[in-house]
Amino acid sequence: MINKVIASLLPYMPKKFVWLFSRRYIAGETLEEAIETSRKLGQEGIEVTVDVLGEYITTMEQANENKVIYFSVIERFEKEGIAATYSLKPTSFGLLIDPELCFEYVREVVEKAGSFGSFVRIDMEDSGCVDAEIELFQRIHDLMPRNVGLVFQAYLKRTPADLEKLVKRHTPQTPINIRLCKGIYVEPPEIAIQSRAGVNKQYMELLDFLLRKKVYVGIATHDQELVTGALQLIECNKLTKDEYEFQMLYGVTPDLRTKIIGLGHRMRVYVPFGEHWFGYSTRRLKENPHMAWLIIKALFVRG
Ligand code: FDA
Repeated sequence: MINKVIASLLPYMPKKFVWLFSRRYIAGETLEEAIETSRKLGQEGIEVTVDVLGEYITTMEQANENKVIYFSVIERFEKEGIAATYSLKPTSFGLLIDPELCFEYVREVVEKAGSFGSFVRIDMEDSGCVDAEIELFQRIHDLMPRNVGLVFQAYLKRTPADLEKLVKRHTPQTPINIRLCKGIYVEPPEIAIQSRAGVNKQYMELLDFLLRKKVYVGIATHDQELVTGALQLIECNKLTKDEYEFQMLYGVTPDLRTKIIGLGHRMRVYVPFGEHWFGYSTRRLKENPHMAWLIIKALFVRG
């Protein structure tokens, strides 16, 4: 009840107050803050993938603006010498408005990151975007196979078939690089597994499949059960440290993160930042007052 009242009042409260709820999960409003956060993580032996928080876009001018922002983020991070990759959401580049121009913009961002030897991860959004996002990835992978990666969601029933197909393009010259996560969107039972046990089972099967195929996987989870399972698979498959990495969201389960790093595994943290953090956080908090989780969700869910 108290949470509900706070959540409904948050949009009318000073930004500084809302920031108290959001700051654990968001690096800040400015590029400087993202750099500072990433530098601190770097001192703990953690690499980052940087995400610019965006508003729901309605015009391709906004998509173009987002492209230019990513250019400056990439240039700055590379200039600072921070070990970073970049994550982006295709809908912020106009996927649902003009897919062809979206391809062009995302390609340019990947090219920019590639010019520094870096890498761009295409986040996977809700089920309505999956076909278009796989196609977008494939077109860019055809051009710059080492500089682009995609995310797959273990809760989707279609994911085993999608990965089976995609893995066919995995060769030493054209490696694929996949982030495997559970999936964050609310999807109907016809297309998505609903139970935690079911999602975890499929997650482990997919991870096993990818690791056996020698695909580089970003094992993106804070779930102790999945981390334990992943560590067993890594051992069984005798993988070396440069064949996979663990990934977590900024601010979530830092203790588990430290434990994994202590075991000598590579860790990458997803660092979101940007001036739109306030709109994101407050809208989500208002819709449903389970605070922390919704701030996290706000990082991924469009609109
Ligand atoms: P689960 O939700 O079961 O959480 C496991 C445990 O982690 C919880 O029991 C709790 O202890 C802790 N925890 C989780 N969230 C917490 C919070 N907010 N505060 C405190 N503790 C918390 N999704 C997607 O659809 N598309 C995408 O592109 C991405 N990208 C992505 C990148 C990275 C690096 C990560 C880590 C995750 C994503 N996700 C995502 C989100 C992902 O799909 C999933 O929703 C979350 O990671 C939560 O799932 P877990 O595997 O952590 O398990």
